[in-house]
Amino acid sequence: MATNRTFTMIKPDAVAEGNSGAIIKMIEEAGFRIVAIKKTLLTKERAGEFYAVHAERPFYGELCDYMSSGPIIPMILEKENAVLDFRTLIGATNPAQAAEGTIRKVFAKSVQANAIHGSDSDENAAIEGFFFFAGVEQF
Ligand code: PPS
Repeated sequence: MATNRTFTMIKPDAVAEGNSGAIIKMIEEAGFRIVAIKKTLLTKERAGEFYAVHAERPFYGELCDYMSSGPIIPMILEKENAVLDFRTLIGATNPAQAAEGTIRKVFAKSVQANAIHGSDSDENAAIEGFFFFAGVEQF
């Protein structure tokens, strides 16, 4: 059964360009409640750990460099059908394929600098949420 939480992070490009407020507004207007939020910085090693599932892909090194290049804003979000509805709200990984009105259509610049991450399953949402937030912070 689907849980009602997902995990997201606003990526370095969107934070650096001052788009985090507008992105959070779109998220809240789409009916998501912010369960946990902070601004933080990943080291390259921590980014590598977060994206370990992609370790064999050719872009892995670049992705880790990029994700540790500046502050990010991780969040846990709550809404019915959270994982799937959030993936719809952010749009396709490649902004060239993102639907009109999605966060990536508006703010993403490339498949790497694509403004925002969204968990792809309930299981990963829980794992990724605990990567950044202790249980007592998830209320
Ligand atoms: S997905 O969402 O897992 O289906 O997307 P996928 O295409 O597998 O990409 C996984 C994450 O890797 C990033 N990515 C890249 N980074 C740098 N260079 C290239 N070429 C590249 N291709 C994909 C992409 O932004 C995804 O990041 P997340 O944070 O998971 O959305």
